[in-house]
Amino acid sequence: MVPILMWKIGDLRIEGRVVLGPMSGITCRSYREFMKPFGVAVSVTEMTSDNGIIHGLQRSMTYVKFEHNYPTGLQLFGNDPDNLAKAAKNAILYNKNIDFFDINMGCPVSKVVNNGSGSALMDNPSKCGDIVRRIKETVNIPVTAKIRLGSNKNINFRQVIDELTDADVDAITIHARTREELYTGNPHFELVEDLQSDMSIPLIISGNVYSLNDAVRAVDITGASAVMVARGAVGNPYLITQIDHYYRTKETLSTPIISQQVNWCLSLADALIQEKGEELAINMLRGIAPKFIAGCRGCREYRHKLAVETIDLKNLTRLLYEIESEIGSEHIRT
Ligand SMILES: Cc1cc2nc3c(=O)[nH]c(=O)nc-3n(C[C@H](O)[C@H](O)[C@H](O)COP(=O)(O)O)c2cc1C
Repeated sequence: MVPILMWKIGDLRIEGRVVLGPMSGITCRSYREFMKPFGVAVSVTEMTSDNGIIHGLQRSMTYVKFEHNYPTGLQLFGNDPDNLAKAAKNAILYNKNIDFFDINMGCPVSKVVNNGSGSALMDNPSKCGDIVRRIKETVNIPVTAKIRLGSNKNINFRQVIDELTDADVDAITIHARTREELYTGNPHFELVEDLQSDMSIPLIISGNVYSLNDAVRAVDITGASAVMVARGAVGNPYLITQIDHYYRTKETLSTPIISQQVNWCLSLADALIQEKGEELAINMLRGIAPKFIAGCRGCREYRHKLAVETIDLKNLTRLLYEIESEIGSEHIRT
């Protein structure tokens, strides 16, 4: 099945096949804005605590605040339908630019699961439905959910999807791993083969999309309406262009060269610094910048340098220009 290019989240029209995966600590406002021109059709904020919004905590409200840029969902986590609905209502009052809510039903982190939130919600499929129902009664914008396969002992995504669909959810993302598998090992696309054809709402498929081939494979196996790219685009934003372009034209674009990567890394640095200030942005970039030069000849030493010597923008810029002059014409490999 070749999925159509245009699809909908409720009445929200989406043009393009790539969803930028939410990543706590990474997909902040400026990161999402930086990624958009690469071909992202929809983005989702970092997960945001319902209680944080209800109590107006600064960190949570930072996630709630964004300009109208392109279809963007606010991701909420929590464990109580009424509380989540209240947070959704408050969030909309605070920011009219929220296009939809995405409910986190997949986070495996113990701090979240021990509180009955994230992937723990999948232990109680009817509650998953109640959460969506309650939020939809309260706010007038689409509601989506992000789930996993279930837990190792209870692969129950079909039951959860049924409950969510009964509650009129507008789209579902499935990360094709179990709660215990966290973020490692191969995703189990075989368990979600042709899943889209059993569903009446759009399916977004997530898990280990690091190359165009990975994306095409995930979509071909599942029939999903869209593919979520998360870690694969960190340091390789052009991956999103390759996937988007492929679904528009069936053409395969080659991977970028290091000098393009250097420019993009510096643009991202600018955007992050504008949002967060230099110190916080540089902390993030120490992890992200080395990924921009992954997979090319002689990059190991430079990656190490970027990870340890990126102490401010000046140093980052100096290192990146040094790398560009040495290996600027090399293509990255994925
Ligand atoms: C550092 C990190 C933070 C994440 N934070 C979130 C989050 O806030 N909400 C969420 O639904 N998923 C989160 N995820 C999961 C991703 O959105 C994605 O589903 C998962 O990484 C699988 O895709 P990938 O293998 O292509 O990275 C996170 C993943 C990582 C690695």
